[in-house]
Amino acid sequence: METVLGIESSCDETAAALVTGDRTILAQRIASQDEAHRPYGGIVPEIAARAHAERLAPLIEAVLAEADMSLDDVDAIAATAGPGLIGGVMVGLVTAKALAMASDKPLIAINHLEGHALSPRLSDETLAFPYLLLLVSGGHCQLLLVEGVGRYRRLATTIDDALGEAFDKTAKMLGLGYPGGPAVERLAAEGDPEAVSLPRPLLGSSEPHFSFAGLKSAVLRAKQSGEHEDADIAAAFQQAAIDCVVDRTRRAIERVDDVNALVVAGGVAANAAVRLALEELADTNGLRFVAPPLSLCTDNAAMIAWAGLERLATGQNDPLDFVARPRWPLDPDAEPVRGAGVKA
Ligand code: KG4
Ligand code: ZN
Repeated sequence: METVLGIESSCDETAAALVTGDRTILAQRIASQDEAHRPYGGIVPEIAARAHAERLAPLIEAVLAEADMSLDDVDAIAATAGPGLIGGVMVGLVTAKALAMASDKPLIAINHLEGHALSPRLSDETLAFPYLLLLVSGGHCQLLLVEGVGRYRRLATTIDDALGEAFDKTAKMLGLGYPGGPAVERLAAEGDPEAVSLPRPLLGSSEPHFSFAGLKSAVLRAKQSGEHEDADIAAAFQQAAIDCVVDRTRRAIERVDDVNALVVAGGVAANAAVRLALEELADTNGLRFVAPPLSLCTDNAAMIAWAGLERLATGQNDPLDFVARPRWPLDPDAEPVRGAGVKA
């Protein structure tokens, strides 16, 4: 049974994990940097890179110790090589290269988005290709046809903000601090989504693309008007965002044939209301719905190790001079969309 050490450091979570080819997570550790970034209301790249550099080596030691293994017992070392904040990505990738060189094991450079895209197959062994994937995180909002390992066709993307970004900005406007998504979800549960009228950008448009900038501005106006409870604004925002996501995903479902499932992954997939709405959409369309457990939705190293195992199984690994890629689309052939690609 193959075992891969996974390393994640592309954003504000430093993580290491050991995963086996039969989908067992032998050990995993995540060090969040929320405290370090909280005073700034968002991620400061320089602080993130330093924190990764301090924390990564002890985390790797800890997962090896927990699994009672040494590097000799590992079959490959997989690390996120992009997209993401370049300082953090370099810390993880260079560490992985050094370990691969010292232990004479293959290096596998993982696209972080591929980690999210394949994560549902780590938790669900019956999930077969092809599937329709809604990838919703802090930096990305895409609909992809996942045809196989390394074979992704982008059907839609956001023309402005990512969905997680919209949650984070709403949280900031409501003074909920950072990270925003979970805080908005908690507050929304206490509010009335009908109490504030908010727009649903691109609803009904023919291409399945996303837009959240107009919704974000409307949230700001609702807050500044002083006429609404914060909980109602949070609830109305979340409902408007979900309406958009469901409408756009429905449009994508119309464009694909013979997919095995509707799958959601990425940090926003941790949102219970989002999951429920997508599950209903899948039901209505006679599709299976698959979402990874919450711990595999937000950034983690088990999904990186798993993507490494999937790549290893297809005979792929990477040279030690692999260059970190702060921008790295899953589907390089996708047509550019006006306004899209602004965010890494
Ligand atoms: O995948 P992820 O951990 O990091 C990126 O690759 O971006 O996603 C983080 C994003 C953040 O924007 C965070 O606010 C959002 O996922 N998020 C949520 C929830 N949990 C995390 N958004 C809405 N509801 C949640 N429960
Ligand atoms: Zn992520």
